[in-house]
Amino acid sequence: MKTQLPDLNLDTLRIQPLARAETIPSAWYVHPDFHEMDRETLLSASWQYVGPASDFGETGAFRSVTVAGEPVVVVRNQEGDLKGWFNVCRHRGGPLVTESCGIAKMLQCKYHGWTYKLDGSLRGVPRFDRTELFDKRDFGLKPVSVATWQGMVFVNLAEEPRPLDESVTGIPERIAPLDLSTMTFERRDIYDVACNWKVYVDNYLEGYHLPIVHPELCDLLDYRNYVTETYPTYSLQYSPLQDGDNIYGTPSGDAFYYFVFPNLMFNILPHRLQVNRIVPTAFDRTQVIFDYYYTAGTGPELIREDAEFSDRVQMEDVEICEHVQNGLRSRAYDRGRFSPDAEPGVYHFQCMLKAAYKAKLSETTVGSS
Ligand code: FES
Ligand SMILES: [Fe+2]
Repeated sequence: MKTQLPDLNLDTLRIQPLARAETIPSAWYVHPDFHEMDRETLLSASWQYVGPASDFGETGAFRSVTVAGEPVVVVRNQEGDLKGWFNVCRHRGGPLVTESCGIAKMLQCKYHGWTYKLDGSLRGVPRFDRTELFDKRDFGLKPVSVATWQGMVFVNLAEEPRPLDESVTGIPERIAPLDLSTMTFERRDIYDVACNWKVYVDNYLEGYHLPIVHPELCDLLDYRNYVTETYPTYSLQYSPLQDGDNIYGTPSGDAFYYFVFPNLMFNILPHRLQVNRIVPTAFDRTQVIFDYYYTAGTGPELIREDAEFSDRVQMEDVEICEHVQNGLRSRAYDRGRFSPDAEPGVYHFQCMLKAAYKAKLSETTVGSS
């Protein structure tokens, strides 16, 4: 790990009270070296959303996912357990699955055909009879931690991850009687955005831009009562909906926008859960995965209108985020300030980011001394 990242020092890592704080330096969004730093420090060390548990109904059902650039496959094994493996053959690094999802009796490498059982053990090794000092038991797939929560599946690349529940404590209680685990997966949309992933997250974490960027969304929400709450591992932006008719078919209701550090979002409206995983694909490219879930009995009309409305809002965010990435690249900009009323969520995210960078740097410094 490179320790000489630009503008990463005691001054920029210092945490000041919100009313006095500056935003993080522009280099953290625009310098290519932060891409690896973020993968290593944040994405490899946190629970990453894979998809709905309903995808893994039968033995051999699998889904592949890329986490921090690492290929991973999650599969339902013979015992009925969900297991995660690096999707990397132990022979010469070939892929076991190249599809995003499917059903497999066993995992066969797409390169020279080594086969692995669903418990990760190596089984078939063609033309290896004359290889000396080779024991198949030493060449099982490398495991990845898997957890489920509220009908969703997550993986974590850390060797001994903290339990997933710790990072989402209190969310089910806060949104009750709404119960995410009873919702049904409907579809996945993917957007590519030409900005650093932190630009997208910052933008998500404040309602400050709503009147300018999203007038239509602003009309749906009771914007005067929009609040941000922060917790140790996540933040919540909450707003009641405006009284009256809306596409969500309720005369009243609530919007909950949860952000779970570092890159997971739950957007909850009446009858609908939208899960976002924010995937940094390059220092200036981000993929945003949208999974839609609905309560049982939700009609096709609501699902269609929700899709159209969500897409309009998303495209407004994409456009502004791409402009912001250009602004951050400009010599005219380095660091800004926060509105304590409207941007506590952004500040909270940036404080968590600083804490994670700081921990990584002290580990690297200690390790290299
Ligand atoms: S790389 Fe998998 S069988 Fe050769
Ligand atoms: Fe937005």
